[in-house]
Amino acid sequence: MAEKKNNILPPDEMRRQYEYIEKIKKENDKYAESHGARKRAFVMTFGCQQNEADSEKIAGMAEAMGYEVTSAPAEASLIVVNTCAIREHAEQKALSVIGQYKHLKNKNPELIIAVCGCMVTQEHRVNEIKHSYPYVDFVFGTSSIHRLPQLIAERIERGRRIYCPEESEYLVAEGVPIKRGDGVRAWVSVMYGCNNFCSYCIVPYVRGRERSRTREAVYAEVAELVANGYKDITLLGQNVNSYGKDSGYDYDFADLLEQLDTIEGDYMLHFMTSHPKDATHKLIDVMSRGKHIARHFHLPMQAGSDKVLREMNRRYTFEKYISTVGYIREKMPDAVITSDIMVGFPGESESDFEDTLSALERAKFDMIYSFIYSPRKGTPAAECEEQIPDAVKSARFERLLATQNAISLEKNKPLEGRTLRVLCDGRSKNNSEVFSGRTEGNKIVFFDGEDTDSGEFLNVYIERADTFALYGKIIR
Ligand code: SAH
Ligand code: SF4
Ligand code: F3S
Repeated sequence: MAEKKNNILPPDEMRRQYEYIEKIKKENDKYAESHGARKRAFVMTFGCQQNEADSEKIAGMAEAMGYEVTSAPAEASLIVVNTCAIREHAEQKALSVIGQYKHLKNKNPELIIAVCGCMVTQEHRVNEIKHSYPYVDFVFGTSSIHRLPQLIAERIERGRRIYCPEESEYLVAEGVPIKRGDGVRAWVSVMYGCNNFCSYCIVPYVRGRERSRTREAVYAEVAELVANGYKDITLLGQNVNSYGKDSGYDYDFADLLEQLDTIEGDYMLHFMTSHPKDATHKLIDVMSRGKHIARHFHLPMQAGSDKVLREMNRRYTFEKYISTVGYIREKMPDAVITSDIMVGFPGESESDFEDTLSALERAKFDMIYSFIYSPRKGTPAAECEEQIPDAVKSARFERLLATQNAISLEKNKPLEGRTLRVLCDGRSKNNSEVFSGRTEGNKIVFFDGEDTDSGEFLNVYIERADTFALYGKIIR
C-alpha cells in the first residue's frame, strides 16, 4: 500500500476563491439592478464525462458569481471553452469554435473569453492561443478549475491577459459549487488523473497523477444526490480501479461501491472507466451482489493482439482480458459489457488487426466506442516510425464497425419480447413524438410515453431490437 498522502487542496485556498466569488457577485448584482437583467455565462464543453463534470463546476462557480448560465454564446458576458486533447480532431474542433467567438468580442469588447481543459494544459497549445487568438482573455489548465473566480477578478482588475501556470501539484478541490445538467442523471468524480501512461494517450500529461477523493466526500455527495431525486449516478475516474491507491487509503473502489450501495433509495450507480489490468474479482462480486449497482461494465480492450497491447503499455494480454469478461458473465449472465477499441496504432499489421476482429467475436460486446489512432505530441507512440497510412486506418475502421454492428444486433435481438427497466429521459431530441430512455446497461430505448414519465423508472416491453436502439411500449 502506498504511503498515506494528503491530496486535498487546503480549505483556505477554497475560502479565498469564495472571497473572489463574493466580490464578483456584488459587481454582477449591481449590473443586474441597473440593467434589469443579469450578465450571462456560456460554457462550451468538449471531451469526456470528466470534462462534463468539470464544466458543471465552472457553471456552478459562474452562477455563484451572479451570472445566469445561458446556452446562447451571443448573449454571454463570460464564455468558457473547456477543451479536450484526446485526438487531433477534438483539438481542431475546439480551436475552430474559439475562432468563431472573435466576432463576439469585436461586438462586445467587455466580453471575457476563457479557454481551459486538457488542450491548454499543453504548452504548445497555450502558445498557440497566446499568439493566434489574441482576444482570448485567459487560459487555465485542468489543475486550476477551482481558480476561475480569482482569474476573472484578476482579468477585470488588471486588464492583462493571463496564462495560468499549472499548479505545482494537482490536488482535489472539495467544495466547488456544481450546477448539474437537467434531468435525473448526475456525474460524481471519485478520482482525478491517470498514472498509466498508455503509449498513445495524452491524458496522464494533461490531467496529472492519480488522486482520490475520500470516501466520506464521495458518500456525502452521492447521498445528497439520491435525497434530491437523482436516479442514475455515474462515478467517474480515468481508472476507477486504482481508486484510493494513490492516497494510501485502506479501502479500494470495490469497498467504496459497496458502501455507496447501502444508501437507501430508488437509483442506480454506474461507473467508468475500469482498466482491465486491475479489474478485480472482488469488484465483480460486489457488483453481482449490489442492490443499486447497474450490471454494466465498460472495460476498454483497445486491441486484440498481444503485441499491440504490449506496445500500447496496457499491461494485460488478450487472454487475461477475456478471462475477466468470462468472470463477469459467470457472475452476471445479463451484464452489458461495452468497450473502447482503437485501430491503426503504429505498427499494427493486418494480422494484428484481424486479432482485434476475432477478439470482438469472442468478447461479444454489446457496444463499442471505436477510435482511429491519432498521434499525440509528446507521447511515445507518436514518435514511432511505423505510422499507419490514413487510407489503411479508415479501411480497418470500416471493417471494425461492420463486425461490431453484426455483434451488437445479435446481442440486442434476444431482448425482443422481454420487459426491461428503463430510466426515462423525456421526449427524444430528434423526434418529440416519442420518448427515450436508457436501460441499466445504458442501451437506448424509444417508446410512447407521457411527460410525467420523464425522470421515472418504467417497465418497457421490447417489441423490436436494432443494432443501435430498442423500441417498445410501457407496461403500466
Ligand atoms: N481511461 C480510459 C480511457 C480514456 S480515453 C481507459 O484507459 O480505458 C477514451 C478512449 O479514447 C480510450 O479508451 C482510447 O480508445 C481512445 N484514445 C485515447 N487516446 C487516443 C489516441 N491518441 N488516438 C485515438 N484514440 C485514443
Ligand atoms: Fe489514457 Fe491509458 Fe490513462 Fe486511459 S488508462 S487515460 S487510455 S493513459
Ligand atoms: Fe479529452 Fe481530457 Fe477527457 S483529453 S477525453 S477531456 S480527460
